[in-house]
Amino acid sequence: MKRRILTGIRPTGSLHLGHYAGALKQWLELQDEYECFFLIADYQVSDYADDIEHVRRSVWEVALDWLAVGLDPQRSHFVVESQVPQHAELSVLLSWFLPLGRLQRNPTLKSEMAALEESKHSVPVGFFMYPLMQVANILLPRADLVPVGEDQLPHIELTRDVAERFNRETGVEVFPLPNARLGTVTRLVGLQGDAKMSKSLDNSIDLKDDAETVRRKVMSMFTDPKRIHRTDPGTVEGNPVFIYHDAFNPDVAQVEEMKASYRRGGPDAIGDVEVKKRLVKVINDLLEPMRERRAYYEAHPKLVQEALEAGSAAERAVADETMADVRGALKLDYFARGMPKAAR
Ligand code: TRP
Repeated sequence: MKRRILTGIRPTGSLHLGHYAGALKQWLELQDEYECFFLIADYQVSDYADDIEHVRRSVWEVALDWLAVGLDPQRSHFVVESQVPQHAELSVLLSWFLPLGRLQRNPTLKSEMAALEESKHSVPVGFFMYPLMQVANILLPRADLVPVGEDQLPHIELTRDVAERFNRETGVEVFPLPNARLGTVTRLVGLQGDAKMSKSLDNSIDLKDDAETVRRKVMSMFTDPKRIHRTDPGTVEGNPVFIYHDAFNPDVAQVEEMKASYRRGGPDAIGDVEVKKRLVKVINDLLEPMRERRAYYEAHPKLVQEALEAGSAAERAVADETMADVRGALKLDYFARGMPKAAR
C-alpha cells in the first residue's frame, strides 16, 4: 500500500505562480509515489463569510487550476472539505486533545489574527479554530506526509502534538505522526519584490493569465533600483526578475550568463528590458500548456465536477475507517458496547 499525502488550499481565488513554485510543482512529482489527497478547504473560509459567492466560484477556480497544472484526478483524490463532513466531526473530537494555550501561541495563527483584527475589527471563532481543522484534515486520511510552505510548519507541529496526545491518552495508536515536506521555493516574492506574491496585494501572475497580461506584468516588475544605466554594475540578489529566472527558467546556463553580465555592467552588459523579455518567454512557455488544459476543462465542466465528486467520495470511504477507530478509542461506540451493568 502506498503511503499517503494530504495537502490543501483555501478556496479564496484562482492560483498564481507563487502557488506553483511553492506547492503545485512538488505535488505533481509526488503523485506516483504516494496516494495523494488534495483538499479544497472550504470549511476554513470564515474570513470570507461575507462573500460566499467568491468562495463558491473559487472552489471551481482551484479545481481548474489543479487540472491545468497537470494534477491527475485518475491518480489523486481532489477533495472538497465540506463534502466530507467527517472533517467537522473529527475537529470536534480532536479539540479535546488540544490545549487552548497551545493554539493561542501558534505564531502563524497569531499574525493572521492580528491582520484580521486590523482589517475587519473582529476575528470569528471559526478562524481561531482553523489550525485545528487543518489538524483534522491531515489526520482524517492518516497522512504520512504534508507538503506545505514554511508558514504552515507550526500547523504540522500542532498536528503531531495532537496525534501523539490522542494516541497516548486513549492508549490506541489511531494516528501516525505526519511529517512536513518543504518545497525548494517556499515563498515567491510579488512583482515589486517587497512582499510575498498574493492576489490580494495585486502583485501576482496568475496561472490563467494570458500571454499579453504576462508580458505587461513582467515588463512592469521592479529590478535593482540603484542600477540606472546598463553600464552600472547591478545587483542580482533579491532582484525580483532574477528570483523569477531562478525559479522558472530551465536554462540554468543562460541565467548564470545573464547574472554575470548584469553584475559586471559596462557597455555590453545586459539591460533590464532584455532580462524581462526573456522572463516573459520563460513564463509564457511554462503557462501555455496550462492554459490549453484549462480551456479544455472549462469546455467540459462535467469532468471537473466528476473529479471533485469522485475524490470526495474516496475520502469519505477512508474517513469512515478512521472515524470507526476514533469512536472506538474514545469509547463512543455506545450501541456496539450495549448498556453497562449498573454500578454495584
Ligand atoms: N491553511 C493552509 C493554507 O492556508 C491550507 C490548508 C488547509 C492545508 N488544510 C490543509 C494545508 C491541510 C495542508 C494540510 O495554505
